[in-house]
Amino acid sequence: MCGIVGYVGGRPCKGILFEGLRKLEYRGYDSAGIGVVADGRVEISRSVGNLDNLELILSQVDDAGTTGIAHTRWATHGRPSIENAHPHTDCSGRFAIVLNGIVENYQELRAALQGEGHVFSSETDAEVVAHLIERAYRGSLQDAVVEAYRQMEGHFSYCAVTADEPEVIIGIRKETPLVVGVSEGENFIASAIPAFLAETRSVLFPDDGEVVVVSRDSVRVCTLEGDPVDRPAKTVDWDDEAAEKAGYETFMLKEIYEQPAALADTLAERIAPDGRVVLEGLGLTQEDFRGLERVIIVACGTSYHAGLIGRHALERWARLPVEVEVASEFRYRDPVIGPRCLCIGISQSGETADTLAAMRLARRRGAKVLALTNIVGSQATREADGVLFTRAGLEVGVAATKTFLTQVLAVLLFALHMGEKRGYLEAERVLGLTGKLRRIPTRLREYLESDAVRGVEQAAVRCASQRFFMVLGRNIGLPVALEGALKLKEISYVPTEAYAAGEMKHGPIALLEEGSPVLVVATDASIYDKLVSNVQEVRARGARVIAVASEGNEGIGEMADDIFLVPCTDEMLSPLFGVVPLQLFAYYVAKARGEKVDQPRNLAKTVTVE
Ligand code: M6R
Repeated sequence: MCGIVGYVGGRPCKGILFEGLRKLEYRGYDSAGIGVVADGRVEISRSVGNLDNLELILSQVDDAGTTGIAHTRWATHGRPSIENAHPHTDCSGRFAIVLNGIVENYQELRAALQGEGHVFSSETDAEVVAHLIERAYRGSLQDAVVEAYRQMEGHFSYCAVTADEPEVIIGIRKETPLVVGVSEGENFIASAIPAFLAETRSVLFPDDGEVVVVSRDSVRVCTLEGDPVDRPAKTVDWDDEAAEKAGYETFMLKEIYEQPAALADTLAERIAPDGRVVLEGLGLTQEDFRGLERVIIVACGTSYHAGLIGRHALERWARLPVEVEVASEFRYRDPVIGPRCLCIGISQSGETADTLAAMRLARRRGAKVLALTNIVGSQATREADGVLFTRAGLEVGVAATKTFLTQVLAVLLFALHMGEKRGYLEAERVLGLTGKLRRIPTRLREYLESDAVRGVEQAAVRCASQRFFMVLGRNIGLPVALEGALKLKEISYVPTEAYAAGEMKHGPIALLEEGSPVLVVATDASIYDKLVSNVQEVRARGARVIAVASEGNEGIGEMADDIFLVPCTDEMLSPLFGVVPLQLFAYYVAKARGEKVDQPRNLAKTVTVE
């Protein structure tokens, strides 16, 4: 989820690129850089931290070049550092590239290139692209970019420049956005429209596997074979804010729709060709895997709900006893912890004060500590023995959506990894589950593009004036219900109670009256029949039932007023689908009530105080 921008035209490009980066800063900001083609070379300026640091460096650089590329980085491979900041160059410094996305086979490519004598200067996956282009270059940057592309696996878009062809930028994409801004005597290329919206509203959208040749007076789109593609530019009438949201009405909605990509990024390189889970940087030895006796997960809010899902998976697959604790409570207890205990701190920001304090307490008492976070370089990563990163990109909406889904995916991957390492999961079972995991991003994308979303919206609008919601779940569906209820509370301000469905009879059922809306998460196949009974119980009290069920279980619809069908998968993976209609439901209830979804009252994105 980095930001890239390129310019070729008649004006000095340094300032134009910098302004483009400012507009993309919402995509990532741990380092940034600009490469300008001038005087027979590519002049690179890079810095760590926010763009103010880059601005200082740029003030000392000549403003001669009129072709350049720039990048603002959201670290995935390699910590934030000058060396890891883009643009990356080849051995000679003649070629420079900026990349957004992930090159999955970079280790293989890097080893091969190093074997041929290429010298690398960063830890990133992206640098291989510059060296691949250097190796392939025979007088045409376009051909070299295509040859590099053909060797790369993953999902990415990148732009390349060379001192040998000073007035051209070549861009290419694979499942990652890339747009071209078309103007008079100058043209732009970027990962998102805001980068050049101040300069032009004429936008061309290349497709996957198409090469874009951008020069001062023309933009050509070609196939990999070099055949021209007719792609007329369209005029966009977005204002700056709408452009940052890529046309979505809020960041939250945009982030809900980014979930398939965030899942694909978090999965990338973590499933080996034989189906095994590969997780690096955990800080655990084989002895630890075998010797662990207990896991304590500490987290707050949405991250706590991801932890609850982690408990189910770790118990089932790795046969480890797991406790999941709200960090703000755990930190004041006197917990019994020993060296055979692993504490996992889950925090998308990696900066939540209570979670950090709970992790420190566990560490002081001898536990190994693993941070599960979305932010490279965050405090949690600095204080843990190991780190497991989600790769959701920057989340702007205060209500967590894509960071939650990637946390769930990461804990599932971790539990599979543990299960295998501890000898409780056979290779065949892991292969079956990782095969299903691999398909989830595509299936979720299809779901989000289907009419099902409209059904959720209509049901939400019908319920928007309700004074109270109840959300029921059971087994692995319970954390999903808790998360759905939290979304409703956070953004729609409607009092919402999430409850274990089996507990209803022990008290909460008294709350129900004619028409009370009850959402039931019934995606877990192992307890589906039990949930059907719970649905009948609440229905008998006059409740209005909204069921979230997996395809194939349409039958529950006969007892429900509304049914939100999601794709069917293994019950342990079912939260990855089940929570999405609840996010959408909360979103559309809040919208129908006229609430400001991205900035809910009284809430902050990161809670760095106790
Ligand atoms: O950054 P963290 O994951 O540690 O944040 C934890 C909670 O503050 C966070 O999940 C909060 O509950 C969100 N607003 C949920 O949408």
